[in-house]
Amino acid sequence: MSTLIPQTMGQQMGRRSWAEPWKIKMVEPIRMMDRRGREQALADAGYNTFLLRSQDVYIDLLTDSGTSAMSDRQWAGMMLGDEAYAGSQNFYHLEETIQQYYGYRYVVPTHQGRGAEHLISQAVIKPGMVIPGNMYFTTTRLHQELAGGRFVDVIIDEAHDPTSQHPFKGNIDLNKLQAVIDEVGAAQIPYVSLAGTVNMAGGQPVSMANVRDLRALCDKHNLRIYLDATRMVENCFFIQEREAGYADKPIATILREFCGYTDGAWMSAKKDSLVNIGGWLAINQADVFDVVRNLVVVYEGLHTYGGLAGRDMEALAIGIAESVQDEHVRSRIGQVRYLGELLTDWCVPIVQPVGGHAIFLDAKRFYPHLAQDLLPAQTLAAELYLDSGVRGMERGIVSAGRDPQTGSHRYPALELTRLTIPRRVYTQAHMDVVAESVKAVYEARDQVRGLTMVYEPEYLRFFQARFAPIY
Ligand SMILES: Cc1ncc(COP(=O)(O)O)c(C=O)c1O
Repeated sequence: MSTLIPQTMGQQMGRRSWAEPWKIKMVEPIRMMDRRGREQALADAGYNTFLLRSQDVYIDLLTDSGTSAMSDRQWAGMMLGDEAYAGSQNFYHLEETIQQYYGYRYVVPTHQGRGAEHLISQAVIKPGMVIPGNMYFTTTRLHQELAGGRFVDVIIDEAHDPTSQHPFKGNIDLNKLQAVIDEVGAAQIPYVSLAGTVNMAGGQPVSMANVRDLRALCDKHNLRIYLDATRMVENCFFIQEREAGYADKPIATILREFCGYTDGAWMSAKKDSLVNIGGWLAINQADVFDVVRNLVVVYEGLHTYGGLAGRDMEALAIGIAESVQDEHVRSRIGQVRYLGELLTDWCVPIVQPVGGHAIFLDAKRFYPHLAQDLLPAQTLAAELYLDSGVRGMERGIVSAGRDPQTGSHRYPALELTRLTIPRRVYTQAHMDVVAESVKAVYEARDQVRGLTMVYEPEYLRFFQARFAPIY
């Protein structure tokens, strides 16, 4: 008989164990296909995890977007859908909730985040304008470009270094921003594009001090700040944890303060807000609101539903209130961190510090023998699926796309494979299976040869591109 005394994971990690602030009352079966089946499914999907059928996936870490489990309260709210074409009660509930928690004056619902990105870009960007921001996001930048603008990255240098332990790698470098203002002039800048947390940097937060200083600089030049609030609640957790003076403040209070330094926000409610569909644009200036309220009728639907059913708006209003509860955010980020701690302890290269919504495997260090043209992050996502049916996604050269001016590939400093954790969906046991699979793929890294792109769509190519293995 073994003389070892069994230990819980918490004990092994030298801390008391914690648990999620909910219990499960409905389950959805999942299954792991055998290796032959996975090889076939991946080949059929052109080695792009976006093209896999979800029934062929075991643990789905493709995205945290629209993949949350809703609460019993949210499902009950769905039954209260007021499906009137105009003036639905659920819209007014949603509007009040956004005003209460995010603090903006005017609200327009949209079907999801990119609907809101489209509206704000069309409303305020004129051809030739420049939009500085803290690292690009795929859909955000595309809408800025389609409106005739040019995105300029003004994030701090540490954000591009996956090993930097900077606590707020999402911060804007105010000197870089000042240089852009000096070069093009404030009149050519429709707004500063601020995201919290920064998805492409690894879910990294922006500090309150940084947004405060940004406000002061923008006031000097009469510039507006629009916030990508998609994961702003998670950003607030990091402020509470890391920034002096915020440890005793609730997430909800921190959120109101942060948004108060900005002029408006767009939101993919499919993330923080715990719904499967939805988004919004909220703004303080009546003149911009007038424009977007008119545009929404063209592209999304009437301004009191914006492409959403009444029931969706109700679930969203309830989800927002649940999303800012401290114990919810702590356990959500705690689960991401748990996976990150296992991989860090096993010396698997990941972006540090672990961010809010995902673990980002550092494909450049994972596969140092693969040049970026051999698509290391895309390859790693494919290898992980082959090993265990775990689905992640590429955030590297494929996601970065081509420069619209030169037509050449962009070569981002970060070449990452994202394992995104849906909210309130998986257990610690699922995280253990994922960690062991990543470790197995890491141990077999020398045999891997890379992929080549064989089909490339024009827009947001990572969603639909097809690849073939290099032998
Ligand atoms: C930071 C960020 N902004 C905007 C979006 C776009 O939102 P949606 O997918 O709802 O259109 C996303 C979605 O992944 C995102 O992560």
